[in-house]
Amino acid sequence: MSDYSPLEKRLLASVSMMTKLTIWLFFIVIGLLIYILTLTENTYWGTKPDVDQNTASEVKVKDPNGFWEAPSTYGIRDEAEKELVNYGKDLIVNTAFYFGPKGTVRPMSTNGMNCQNCHLEGGTKVFGNNYGAVSANYPRYRPRSGSIENLYKRVNDCFERSLNGQPLDSVSREMKAIVTYIQFLGKDVPKGSKPKGSGFQDLTMMDRACDPVKGGIVYQDKCASCHQKSGEGQMSPDGRKYVYPPLWGSNSYNDGAGLYRVTNFARFVKANMPLGASHDNAILSDEEAWDVAAFVNSQPRPKKDISLDWPKKEEKPKDHPFGPYADGFSETQHKYGPWNSMNNKK
Ligand code: HEC
Ligand code: HEC
Repeated sequence: MSDYSPLEKRLLASVSMMTKLTIWLFFIVIGLLIYILTLTENTYWGTKPDVDQNTASEVKVKDPNGFWEAPSTYGIRDEAEKELVNYGKDLIVNTAFYFGPKGTVRPMSTNGMNCQNCHLEGGTKVFGNNYGAVSANYPRYRPRSGSIENLYKRVNDCFERSLNGQPLDSVSREMKAIVTYIQFLGKDVPKGSKPKGSGFQDLTMMDRACDPVKGGIVYQDKCASCHQKSGEGQMSPDGRKYVYPPLWGSNSYNDGAGLYRVTNFARFVKANMPLGASHDNAILSDEEAWDVAAFVNSQPRPKKDISLDWPKKEEKPKDHPFGPYADGFSETQHKYGPWNSMNNKK
């Protein structure tokens, strides 16, 4: 029983319907809002990084893929050692500042390159020619010199070849710092072992010879914008260091250097060049890496007297570009391949 007129009843019914609808709408809108917020959480609120970005090189999370990672310098208690390690790192990163054209320790005693130009991220980048395996494997026999080499000798090898410069005195503070830094990097690596991701990434050899002509096209397309058409790189305006290091010409590595071997060059660029590439984000195809290596290493560069290298010619690597060889293959084939038909030497 009710006192409402039929019209009033209908009005009341529609009001209650609208209230219900509003309540439903309210919940739907709230639900949608929550959904959108979770989707865009990263952009709106920013997820808290695991590691403080500013100290990322100091505190590293263990690599889930098992690749070698540089230890944190936070762990060094001894102040004097810490200082030496940090100085060593600085010498690797900013070598030109100390030994380059306007070097503060010994000016003009190198070609002006930094060790880091080839040992990326201070010698810590995965497959960026890092120093992960060094400390665990020196001193060791090296067929290039035919003798047992210690770390001092190895460091000076790169000064004299890759930096086409003068060696450091083995008792200098600079040599001590570089060696201490490299030993620190490898301190957790078991003697004689090679951690995953150290040195260069392997690259399958091609069945054909590497082609400098094809490589020249790759170079113009993918390298010249930074390393310049002339291959001579680009100096910073203050003349203290290279912004883009040279790949050939008078300030590049000499023909006794490791990169002058086409396999080393190809392995390096495949995982690291053009700048921004990495082992899990390669930019060049394998063929491009091989061909551009052949192109760059067919350009002019300083010569080194290497007549005493490789005293046992049967220990020469397949891609060593200078004879005499223990087999009958030509210098050209040793330099550019194909290497697959040669015997199984490294
Ligand atoms: C132009 C490129 C280049 C530059 C610059 C360079 N290196 Fe190297 N370095 C190489 C290459 C390539 C190898 C590996 C050679 C090989 O295995 O035949 C190497 C190897 C080494 C090794 C041994 C690594 C190992 O795993 O056995 C040490 C140590 C080293 N370099 C130190 C230095 C230092 C110190 C400097 C700076 C003074 C320097 N390098 C500058 C290219 C370079
Ligand atoms: C965007 C700029 C850029 C491009 C493009 C680039 N590079 Fe580099 N490259 C660099 C820089 C910068 C370094 C030094 C890295 C460092 O010091 O951390 C370098 C280092 C190198 C090195 C070792 C140092 C030396 O001078 O010998 C080689 C070899 C090299 N690049 C080859 C190449 C090749 C081959 C290509 C093309 C496939 C290429 N790069 C494209 C910027 C570039």
